Amino acid sequence: MTVDDVPRAERVTAVGYHELDIRMNPRSWPEPELRPPDRGATWMARTTHLVSTDPGGSWVAELDGEILGVVVSFVREKLWLLASYAVVPDAQGLGLGRALLAPALDYGRGCLRGMLNASSDPRAVRRYHQAGFRLYPQMLLRGRPDRSQIPVIENVREGTESDIDLMDSLDRRTRGAAHGPDHQVLMRQLRLVVTETSSGQGYAYVDNGVVLLAASDKRTASRLLWEALASSDEVLSGHITPENSWAVDVGMAARLELHQDGFAGLRHMRPPAPYLPHGALM
Ligand SMILES: CC(C)(COP(=O)(O)OP(=O)(O)OC[C@H]1O[C@@H](n2cnc3c(N)ncnc32)[C@H](O)[C@@H]1OP(=O)(O)O)[C@@H](O)C(=O)NCCC(=O)NCCS
Repeated sequence: MTVDDVPRAERVTAVGYHELDIRMNPRSWPEPELRPPDRGATWMARTTHLVSTDPGGSWVAELDGEILGVVVSFVREKLWLLASYAVVPDAQGLGLGRALLAPALDYGRGCLRGMLNASSDPRAVRRYHQAGFRLYPQMLLRGRPDRSQIPVIENVREGTESDIDLMDSLDRRTRGAAHGPDHQVLMRQLRLVVTETSSGQGYAYVDNGVVLLAASDKRTASRLLWEALASSDEVLSGHITPENSWAVDVGMAARLELHQDGFAGLRHMRPPAPYLPHGALM
């Protein structure tokens, strides 16, 4: 996959995830929407970045000039990560997904550890299991936080580029590898909050709840999640493993709904904590 393929690859993933939403929630009304243009632009900016930092990690399956499948993977400090993976609905279940995942996995062959967020698609889950990933169920918090429950939040400030070293060290402590260049992309797309006190450090990217969070301890992580809830009208915060039940405690205190959604796929590592991963950059 090259940077020129990114716009067409975006459509493949949009259509693939849309059909999955309908397949997994056949009775949901209104029908799930196709990814809107603003979210498509975010996907394209992130993928252009990943294809540039890791040109050997992304692949497309093409027939007569038409892209039928996409995989986007990348490596950060000996950790292999999978950002996107989709095949157009008409071509699913025919072995294209297996053929696409093989070179992406091969790209990470120098890495012992691996990390991905799996959808609930049984086909995806099967591919990941066969690739040696252990699957951990994840939860998500949704709804309007009850403002009367939000505590006074102290010692949380807006983050800047000068916080990248701190964030990288928190990433290493929690997930065993820094986000490195990915922080630049995240900072362009999201609000960043940071806390640094004598008892703990942490950071969170915020957009309708938390999009990514790493902290030295649960207390600090909870404070950052409260800050994210305080600044969001509608919350949708996912990728919560049972190891991060501090987040469930905060969500329940804020009277949010708790649901189950997808899996963390991890190879040779435990679910990071206190940590809430980004959907694609983990
Ligand atoms: C996940 C995805 C990329 C896999 O691509 P694919 O071309 O469908 O995958 P393959 O045909 O190579 O493999 C599918 C596997 O699931 C099996 N399978 C098919 N339907 C299944 C079902 N309903 N339940 C369980 N397994 C199923 C197939 O037999 C095959 O396993 P096998 O090779 O061991 O026989 C594709 O299905 C997709 O785009 N899904 C929607 C988007 C998505 O969920 N992406 C993953 C995001 S994390």
